[in-house]
Amino acid sequence: MIIDLHNHILPGVDDGAMSMEDAVEMAALAARCGIRKIVATPHYQYGSSASIEALEDTFATLSSALEYEQIDITLEKSMEIMASDNLPELLQQGKVWTYPNSSYFLVEFAHDEERDYFDWLLDRCVDAGFTPVIAHPERYHAVRRHPEMAQQWQNKGYGVQVNRDSLLGLFGEHPFYCADLLLRKGWANCIASDAHTPQFRNPHWGEAFRQLPGVYGFHTLAYCLETIPERILGNLPLFAV
Ligand SMILES: [Fe+2]
Repeated sequence: MIIDLHNHILPGVDDGAMSMEDAVEMAALAARCGIRKIVATPHYQYGSSASIEALEDTFATLSSALEYEQIDITLEKSMEIMASDNLPELLQQGKVWTYPNSSYFLVEFAHDEERDYFDWLLDRCVDAGFTPVIAHPERYHAVRRHPEMAQQWQNKGYGVQVNRDSLLGLFGEHPFYCADLLLRKGWANCIASDAHTPQFRNPHWGEAFRQLPGVYGFHTLAYCLETIPERILGNLPLFAV
């Protein structure tokens, strides 16, 4: 089952889908491309995000709309959590959403975050009982300068999620070079859309499915879009030990 673990499909709660109509269109586009499950991951920034109640309501409304429109997508909910010093406490207190019934959580960092901060924070989250999935490492200047950071995350069993559009070169050469390197080296283990709208940064996978298997191989694509996402949602170790 192809799963998109990073998607801003919930309407009106962040800079993603603007309306319920856009959200339904995004799901329909993904379904046509063979995606069977989308995890909605609205941005969460400590102190400034939509309330949990608003997210719950929007999720329920969109789930009903997809059922009414008979769109063959299972919708799940999580968050893309902006790194903050108190993230371990937020996770322990249940104030942010992990992946459903899983200890994995999707986390993003400021693009210019200092190298040391990543592991300072991630280690504390792991000590608190949670496992990171690092969103779009190719966007972080520290990772571009030190791509072995992703290798270390991979070795620790973290999710390392590159954006599909980075691999397609749609964000420019620097994210492309980094995402490409991580995938070729085996230091990224997940690919997601990070879709925001039905048009630009969209949930359409056609171009990716045409281009990427020829570059990275079908096995890599299946691993990054099915195997690893299933393990994250199943709360299983990413690698057999
Ligand atoms: Fe995102």
